[in-house]
Amino acid sequence: MYTYMKRPLIAGNWKMNTSPAEGIALYKTFLEGKKKGGFRQELEWLVLPPFTHLAGLQNLGDIQVGAQNCSHQSKGAFTGEVSVDMLRDLGCRYVLVGHSERRQYFKEEEEELTGKVALLLESNCIPIFCIGETWEEREKGSTETVLERQIQEVFGHFKAISSEVVFAYEPVWAIGTGKTASVEQAQAAHAFIRQVWTRFVGENKAQSTRILYGGSMKPDNAEGLLSQKDIDGGLIGGAALDAEAFLNIARQFPK
Ligand code: PGA
Repeated sequence: MYTYMKRPLIAGNWKMNTSPAEGIALYKTFLEGKKKGGFRQELEWLVLPPFTHLAGLQNLGDIQVGAQNCSHQSKGAFTGEVSVDMLRDLGCRYVLVGHSERRQYFKEEEEELTGKVALLLESNCIPIFCIGETWEEREKGSTETVLERQIQEVFGHFKAISSEVVFAYEPVWAIGTGKTASVEQAQAAHAFIRQVWTRFVGENKAQSTRILYGGSMKPDNAEGLLSQKDIDGGLIGGAALDAEAFLNIARQFPK
């Protein structure tokens, strides 16, 4: 069995779900479940609720709270945007960048994504940078080309990357569809991402960079995925809204 060199991370992406009160109730259910134990001690826990929930969830317990997005501008006349500093003041250390729903529905591209990563790194926050191919791209055999481009087009703008970055490999065809990448497909993509990342930060840092898998992760498929050498945790959508399912995924991290 593979033993982790780094702290595994379980992150629940709530997307645009739950009211603030429901969010607090869900968070408290996680805390109760977590107290019962049966989890790897080193496991790092994170939830990513909507912005409106962040203040209410601050200081409620030892599950970290992060954000699903941030502005690529630092402050000013940008109606409707939420800045990295605002998020940091609310205790967010982790922020998702480039989730496929943002790329697809909000047309986020290179310039915006690069701006977000730059602001997060400057503020000592940790971007969870999401990448992944569509089904069409996989069928054409261009999965690796797509992953490499998504990394290069953003991180190629930085001279030196000394702060932590977390990756999430989320094949677009597996998000919210009930289809999961096979253990072999996921492991191969993760190993490839790590290999590309080595060019940016060197061998040692790339080996200790966490790469999460996301896309229909559930209690019954988590064990196989999480036991792979290059899969260091999960970014969980649908199943993160069901306390029992989320806790059961957390139990699947290899002992
Ligand atoms: P899913 O979502 O688990 O519902 O597929 C994952 C994600 O979008 O982060």
